[in-house]
Amino acid sequence: MLRRKEGDHRGVLCVTDAFDGPRGDGPSGYLHLEEAGYLAGLRYPKRRGDYLIGRYVGKRAVAALVGEPDPAEFRIDRGVFGHPVVRGTARAGVQVSITHSGSAAAAVAFDEAHPMGIDLEQIDESRLPTLLRQLSGDERALVDQLGLPLLEAAVRLWSARESLTKAMRTGLTVPMPLLEVSAAVATVGCVRFEFRNFFQFAAMTVRLGAYCLALALPRYTRLDPLTLPAGTLGSPAEVRLG
Ligand SMILES: CC(C)(COP(=O)(O)OP(=O)(O)OC[C@H]1O[C@@H](n2cnc3c(N)ncnc32)[C@H](O)[C@@H]1OP(=O)(O)O)[C@@H](O)C(=O)NCCC(=O)NCCS
Repeated sequence: MLRRKEGDHRGVLCVTDAFDGPRGDGPSGYLHLEEAGYLAGLRYPKRRGDYLIGRYVGKRAVAALVGEPDPAEFRIDRGVFGHPVVRGTARAGVQVSITHSGSAAAAVAFDEAHPMGIDLEQIDESRLPTLLRQLSGDERALVDQLGLPLLEAAVRLWSARESLTKAMRTGLTVPMPLLEVSAAVATVGCVRFEFRNFFQFAAMTVRLGAYCLALALPRYTRLDPLTLPAGTLGSPAEVRLG
């Protein structure tokens, strides 16, 4: 439940790291014919696997939001920026954001009145130097003060930024400094980030085993972190900069 002063919205989040759907050729139980056609044109096994698991979680999330019993009845197309576009549901104005990472994927379905974006990142030590290079001085101070392992804090911040760019449909094509985080509030299981230049949005992050999940949403929306998948976090902390 996405709580707003002017009225609530609903969203559905679907996450899996145990995809047991078909990865081979041909239409599967949940793909629309046009999706199966797109899959047939994909040559690389990794891209095929990503597409399949991404469509799987995306379609389950949309189906649950709109009450569509057969996920093969509607489709998730690609928009001009590569973003997912829902077509063919009985209810209009439904959108979805999709992410895949390692063997896992996540998607959030929502109404177009309430834009959102999602990202899933592996907490991978080898990425730490690259992640730290992307941080501003203020952001580095912020991750240091969160009371989390440095790697986890840096991945959460990065993932928050990426989820924001999904909500905005730009992806990471904008200059990195524009995506700077200005505040982070940690509660048990969740760190919520705010952005210096995109103050309309916030991003909530949770840890899921070896992954970090980030959900960007309008800043004044209240989402109970306990409704997100359970995670682990050290002692609660609040850090505000600038
Ligand atoms: C979009 C982006 C942030 C995705 O990050 P990633 O680490 O590659 O991958 P993720 O698994 O987290 O997300 C991939 C999914 O994001 C979605 N996506 C792609 N582009 C998107 C965009 N511009 N806005 C919102 N969502 C987008 C898609 O659903 C995609 O999965 P799919 O291709 O299976 O449908 C990154 O690829 C990027 O910045 N790309 C550049 C965007 C670009 O060049 N667009 C063309 C401009 S003309």
